[in-house]
Amino acid sequence: LTLPERSLAAVAGHIKSGRARRIVVMTGAGISTAAGIPDFRSPETGLYANLAALDLPEPEAVFDLSFFRENPKAFYVLARELYPGARYRPTVSHVFIALLARKGLLHMLFTQNIDCLERAAGVPADRIVEAHGSFATQRCIECKAEFDDAKMRAFVAKGEVPRCEAEGCGGLVKPDIVFFGEALPRAFFELSDRAKEADLILVMGTSLQVHPFAGLPNMADEDVPRVLFNLERVGSFGTQADDVMVLGDCDAGIRKLADELGWRDELEKTWRE
Ligand code: OAD
Repeated sequence: LTLPERSLAAVAGHIKSGRARRIVVMTGAGISTAAGIPDFRSPETGLYANLAALDLPEPEAVFDLSFFRENPKAFYVLARELYPGARYRPTVSHVFIALLARKGLLHMLFTQNIDCLERAAGVPADRIVEAHGSFATQRCIECKAEFDDAKMRAFVAKGEVPRCEAEGCGGLVKPDIVFFGEALPRAFFELSDRAKEADLILVMGTSLQVHPFAGLPNMADEDVPRVLFNLERVGSFGTQADDVMVLGDCDAGIRKLADELGWRDELEKTWRE
């Protein structure tokens, strides 16, 4: 056993004792719902439950490459909702991850999110692995030519489908987010050892249903404490002696941890800035 008990107080003690210097954080859409961005799989509010109007064979088809080739419009209807911009502000959970980085405790953040809110919160780019890519860049799915950012923004705002402008191409343009049927970015594989090196793992706001990301929390040794901040129990949480589950809203759980650490004022102040 690494922790004296399965509690947030014990986790805070582990951090304060200096034994957690390589904290690895793994996040999903649940850390951004408080910012107003829907997640995917929540029964009523999730995107997949609200895609009926798009007439998809199944909700995941909106992120499927072969479906996109036939029917790119469906994705662009959704992209309009998800596109990062001034509309959305980082949540308390995002800011907590930035605090970990500021204190030199963040070994790596692995995120499945494509909203770029962790960068907006101040997590340094070299500590972030955007495992499912992001909306930051885009290219043609045929000739792979990059497509201009400002033009892309204009297409997305109108819900229209951009086409490649390279001589004689005309292929579909897609943001560099990872669709089903596509490989994850090289950085995910190059940096996945960071998950093995963790001395504390924090998992927040993810259903852990999509592989290979879902395997990350199982990569460290069994005696590495893992903490889950999520509405529901997910993955293999609860099977290891040092698993701590903080079920409920992740911002509320993070605030409790910040209280235990004596970081609460700093957290709130940084979040309000
Ligand atoms: P999901 O929608 O699958 O899971 C979100 C999880 O967060 C669920 O377990 C929710 O219960 C939980 N949750 C929601 N709001 C919360 C809150 N305020 N506090 C705590 N927990 C909360 O989203 P992901 O796991 O991120 O892929 O989905 C993984 C991938 O599936 C996404 O990256 C996306 C999707 O297909 C691509 O876009 C390529």
